[in-house]
Amino acid sequence: MESLSRTLPASWFCSPALYQLERRAVFLKSWHFLGPVTRFQNRREPVTYEIAQAREIKYHLTPSGLLFSTLSHNAPPFEKYFAGLEALTNTVDFTKLPHRRSISYSGRFNWKTMIDGFQECLHCQYTHPTFSKFYPPTFYSVTNHCTFSQHIADPSKPSDGLFLYFFPICTLNVYGGGMSSFRTCPAPEPGMSRMEFDYYHNGTDEEFEEYFKFVRQVAVEDFELCEKAQQGLEGGVYGEGVLNPDKENGVLFYQRRVRECVYRQFDAEKREKEEQREEMVGEGMQGSGESAGGAVAVQ
Ligand SMILES: [Fe+2]
Repeated sequence: MESLSRTLPASWFCSPALYQLERRAVFLKSWHFLGPVTRFQNRREPVTYEIAQAREIKYHLTPSGLLFSTLSHNAPPFEKYFAGLEALTNTVDFTKLPHRRSISYSGRFNWKTMIDGFQECLHCQYTHPTFSKFYPPTFYSVTNHCTFSQHIADPSKPSDGLFLYFFPICTLNVYGGGMSSFRTCPAPEPGMSRMEFDYYHNGTDEEFEEYFKFVRQVAVEDFELCEKAQQGLEGGVYGEGVLNPDKENGVLFYQRRVRECVYRQFDAEKREKEEQREEMVGEGMQGSGESAGGAVAVQ
């Protein structure tokens, strides 16, 4: 089996050193979706974000009202990072639905465990019986672009059952009559994440509560699934496996990108250390004797 169709090994979901490498390779070089501008409609309420133990630096507001930011100046320009995204999002006015509620809580799983589940719907029928009743997984499809994925539950209803994934940890979900967005923020402990949800809705309080109940049910079901999956990854029950190229193409796409980013960063840092060592030797100083690759071994 070709190595690229395999999942990332379980160690990538459990190793603190690998998380630190991911932090430099993925998080500090990415754009993160913060919300549509309606998230910031109450000027008296400060909205702060913390992702990967960093704070945002650059901003980009799309013409359709979506706000993105970076965590460092190492991220490429927005247009390069999310090439093609605005052509898709500009067809929708994201400022129509007011922000109604935000909630946040911790989960005992790696950030990738949650994104694994978001990027496929094979689990939907069994895990989300209520959701599957309204959005049967029959036509569910995922289209991957350079750094984002578009999920469509039913091609005949393109504006209901629309899910966008923004690499690495942000999503935007239009279904059940409202809109939600979540971020799976990584923690220094690789088996922990902080889920942050924002909910947008146009209806009365009663209608919003009905929508909220429906989407929370789906989120709780995913949460329980992720905590169990992480236990399997940490307990050695699950090592790695093969992904379905059609039904799990979204998982393949984002895991491949994580792998590429981490390998590239590892090589760059190795080269940097070798150059530093050569400089030290050139200056007549004794080398540190430390291995060129540092503390992390990438398998
Ligand atoms: Fe799910």
